[in-house]
Amino acid sequence: MAAVHAAAVDLELRDITDDELPAWARVTEAAFGAQPTDEEVADWAAITEGEHRWGVFDDGEIVATGGAFAFRLTLPGGATVPAGGLTAIGVRTTHRRRGILTSMMDLHLDEVARRGQPVSILTASESVIYGRYGYGSAADLARWKLPTHGTTLAFPPAVGGRLRQVDAAVAAAVLPEVYEAHRATTPGALSRKPAYWDFWLRDRPDGREGASARFFVLHESDAGRPDGYACYRIKSSWGDHGLPASTLVATEVIGADAEVEAALWEHLLSVDLVATIDAANRPVQDPLRWRLADPRRLQTGHVGDHLWVRLLDVGAAMEARSYLVQDSLVLEVADPFRPASGGRWRLEAGPAGAACTRTEDAADVALGVTDLGATYLGAVRPTTLARAGRAVERTPGALARLDLLLSWSVEPWCASAF
Ligand SMILES: CC(C)(COP(=O)(O)OP(=O)(O)OC[C@H]1O[C@@H](n2cnc3c(N)ncnc32)[C@H](O)[C@@H]1OP(=O)(O)O)[C@@H](O)C(=O)NCCC(=O)NCCS
Repeated sequence: MAAVHAAAVDLELRDITDDELPAWARVTEAAFGAQPTDEEVADWAAITEGEHRWGVFDDGEIVATGGAFAFRLTLPGGATVPAGGLTAIGVRTTHRRRGILTSMMDLHLDEVARRGQPVSILTASESVIYGRYGYGSAADLARWKLPTHGTTLAFPPAVGGRLRQVDAAVAAAVLPEVYEAHRATTPGALSRKPAYWDFWLRDRPDGREGASARFFVLHESDAGRPDGYACYRIKSSWGDHGLPASTLVATEVIGADAEVEAALWEHLLSVDLVATIDAANRPVQDPLRWRLADPRRLQTGHVGDHLWVRLLDVGAAMEARSYLVQDSLVLEVADPFRPASGGRWRLEAGPAGAACTRTEDAADVALGVTDLGATYLGAVRPTTLARAGRAVERTPGALARLDLLLSWSVEPWCASAF
């Protein structure tokens, strides 16, 4: 149990019991303006079972909630690190702006460190909240729309195999294995436990935003092995003049490799009665755009933050990822929220491996832990952060060298929501 740094009231912060889970889930949902059904409360119980869940109590009543999933986060090069995935953060409207979230962040980061997880991760309701706690926006998502009529691929997929439309039961058996192949090579991808898939496949009607239940198309290799899938919904429309104008909402399109993924897009472009594909959780540099005969047709409507990363053990985190070039630089990392995690680190890295250890040597580059988190998966270049006033070059040329050192050939992409 921990005391909360909340003004004027004496609150208690502790892990919840299983009996307290329904009240906990209702407080979480209420913070987002929702009143959960009993089924949705049961979903919370199932998906957070065995994970860290805590509440803040005022006179015996839960007034704030939080939790953390034990994920593995894929890094540049394919290694994974244990990551504490902050979730279910909510404070009752009556108890906001008294420092309760800040107390919960202290608790969460202490627990992440205690569990030997070098990083904490989250997805944020508002992007203004978590920078103060050391999180950097590390993998964005793009949403694009693509008219289907007349859209062709100038570079068609070079792949054989076949496509099969399957039901949710077959999808449940096959998708997790295909996803694992994607996760192994995609920085920013997260492990998905069976309860994640169970929840996702339950496909609750209020999560469909007026569209159909999910359809599933599998791609199988010539040998009959599933190696890609497209999940989509249909929002039916016949326009004003009876002409088919439905939208295909692509909820997750994943291939074990780029050719398989392109074969799935080629198929989705051919679905009758559809006028537009709407894809919301895509990587920013979607290769599909570069396959199109007319790339301007792919209209990116939104690019925004999705996965945020907070380094707690800078040395272990930086040593776990891979590097394409050889270099050695000293980073001075400012960490106002958790000063013990900051300091000066020598990163000596290359294709054969990396060492990142504390040093007294002079710094080549100074930046905040937030910004190191933003660069960690390769999403943004340190020179860009310097041009935003967020990083300072102490040795001439060091920022450009750091750009090269932290870059990676696969763009970070986190298709999971939590
Ligand atoms: C976001 C939320 C958890 C903040 O809880 P809280 O207990 O009021 O936060 P704190 O009092 O600890 O605030 C800490 C700091 O963050 C700032 N802050 C918190 N929420 C903020 C918001 N939504 N917008 C801007 N600043 C915010 C506070 O002003 C404070 O700033 P300071 O350190 O400069 O004083 C709470 O407002 C909430 O439940 N919101 C709705 C649900 C939600 O968005 N949850 C987050 C899910 S990712």
